[in-house]
Amino acid sequence: MLRTPLINVMTAAAQKAGRGLVRDFGEVEHLQVSKKGPADFVSVADRKAEKVLFEELQKARPKYGLLMEERGAVEGSDTSNRWLVDPLDGTTNFLHGIPQWAISIGLERDGQMFAGVIYNPVTDEMFAAEKGQGAFLNGRRLRVSARRDLSLALFATGIPFQGREGHEPFLAQLAEVMAVSAGVRRYGAASLDLAWVAAGRYEGFWEQNLKPWDMAAGAILITEAGGFVTDFAGDRDMFNRGDIIAGNPAMHAALCKLVKAPAG
Ligand code: IPD
Ligand code: CA
Ligand code: CA
Repeated sequence: MLRTPLINVMTAAAQKAGRGLVRDFGEVEHLQVSKKGPADFVSVADRKAEKVLFEELQKARPKYGLLMEERGAVEGSDTSNRWLVDPLDGTTNFLHGIPQWAISIGLERDGQMFAGVIYNPVTDEMFAAEKGQGAFLNGRRLRVSARRDLSLALFATGIPFQGREGHEPFLAQLAEVMAVSAGVRRYGAASLDLAWVAAGRYEGFWEQNLKPWDMAAGAILITEAGGFVTDFAGDRDMFNRGDIIAGNPAMHAALCKLVKAPAG
């Protein structure tokens, strides 16, 4: 297991927030049957988890800045270090009682990803990586998958939903990838999709319209596991452009071509 002081802070914060979210996830099932549904309850759970993460990270590293999904940007006196936090990634899954959601904490140092933790408290899978130290799942060292044959490759993606643009380009990308690969999954938690690429479960992942807190921790996990992460143009400007292609080196290259292939 990766046990640097930084990773210890991040995993402890994720576990603490995870305990609260697991309790609330248990409640969500009962609320499914109510007329109003559990949406309000889940947004309270989300904000509670973010508060726990904010307090824990601030206590451990008081000078670091933060960018959190609900709270937004919090300036720090140390301008080199910034936490990028999604307290609950996969909200729709959580809301529907589907156990595929996570807490995602990334640390950016001098404009580059330095460390990341993604925690699924339901399966108790803790993915962690720090620059130069490798990527780990609980006690085990992670490597991206070695599959280089596109016809055997399994990919993950995210489908643009309500209010998001890009349905048509997405359908064209999906058609390209479906036609040549072993399959495409859409599981609904981008952070875990990326963690699963690092773990070699998927050969690659692509999505557009993501936020920095969806991608931050996953990006360092994949690079530390030997994979590649870029935006759709092949640059490392994912946080500004909001799109991402990740994979083992061979499948990242293949996916870049497929996703960029002109529609029609
Ligand atoms: C969402 C999830 C989903 C992705 C969406 C994200 P949220 O985050 O990561 O997989 O497709 O684009 O917004 O809202 O559950 O934190
Ligand atoms: Ca998210
Ligand atoms: Ca979220």
